[in-house]
Amino acid sequence: MQWIPEYKGDVPRVERFNFLSRFTHWGHTVTFLLCLFTGLALFLDSADWLAAIFGGFHGAGLVHRIAAVAMTIVVVIFVIGNFKVVIAWIKDILRFGKNDIIFIMLFPLEFLGFKVKVPPQTKFNGGEKGNSMITPTAVIFLILSGYIMWVPSIFPAGLVRLAYPIHDISMVLATMMVCMHGYLGSFHPGSGESFWGMWKGTVREDWAEHHHKTWYDETYGDKASGE
Ligand code: HEM
Ligand code: HEM
Repeated sequence: MQWIPEYKGDVPRVERFNFLSRFTHWGHTVTFLLCLFTGLALFLDSADWLAAIFGGFHGAGLVHRIAAVAMTIVVVIFVIGNFKVVIAWIKDILRFGKNDIIFIMLFPLEFLGFKVKVPPQTKFNGGEKGNSMITPTAVIFLILSGYIMWVPSIFPAGLVRLAYPIHDISMVLATMMVCMHGYLGSFHPGSGESFWGMWKGTVREDWAEHHHKTWYDETYGDKASGE
């Protein structure tokens, strides 16, 4: 059984993500998961075993705060260091249109293994555009509410009270998205090549053309500006 498609270095490949995008993506993945498991240890009174992994509830609280600061730094490095990429990402999300809606409508069938003909997609397909809107928004809410909970004395009491449910709801939303996203970006048949894009930076050229035709044509194909 094969989990992720084999990396093929001997076929034509095209760049998908630069080094900083990949470094920060895996950086926020590790820190997000650390925040999640330590946060769950704090959230679920019954999860003594989970807290024990981090040296008890105090240890879990400490690791949560260290991972939280690391995650904030990684996000800031991504946005400042990769500003042009971030702008291009936002522009791509704003191109959300008919082809993305059709993609989202057909995706459940593709997910269940039916053969479907998906219309040409830009750099991020309809589902990835949805993920690009929902997950980072939930993470921003986690960061803001997290610091408010951390230093409550400098914020109005009402805001501190609100920060707790906001932190919890954002945690649930982000975790559901990350579960789906992590699977689709690795083990899901057909989309697994995207893992290599995020790991090594390149994807197979034929895969790029098949899965992201509009992006491929505009970046490497007929419609590339040659920049
Ligand atoms: C910059 C990011 C973050 C900061 C500053 C932060 C900060 C905090 C603080 C101060 C607490 C209270 C800890 C305590 O009572 O000892 C907390 C609790 C918690 N955090 Fe975070 N956190 C962040 C990110 C995250 C992330 C990414 C997740 C999960 C994906 C998460 C999940 C939780 C959960 C489940 C709790 C328990 C909440 C409760 O008791 O109602 N946090 N966080
Ligand atoms: C759990 C393990 C994870 C895996 C295997 C994974 C995999 C990937 C891959 C392969 C891509 C590139 C997809 C493409 O070609 O467009 C990607 C993009 C992305 N990842 Fe992750 N990721 C993981 C965790 C996370 C986490 C924890 C977050 C945020 C909290 C996140 C946020 C994003 C976002 C916003 C994008 C761009 C939009 C998209 O492609 O959906 N990822 N990820």
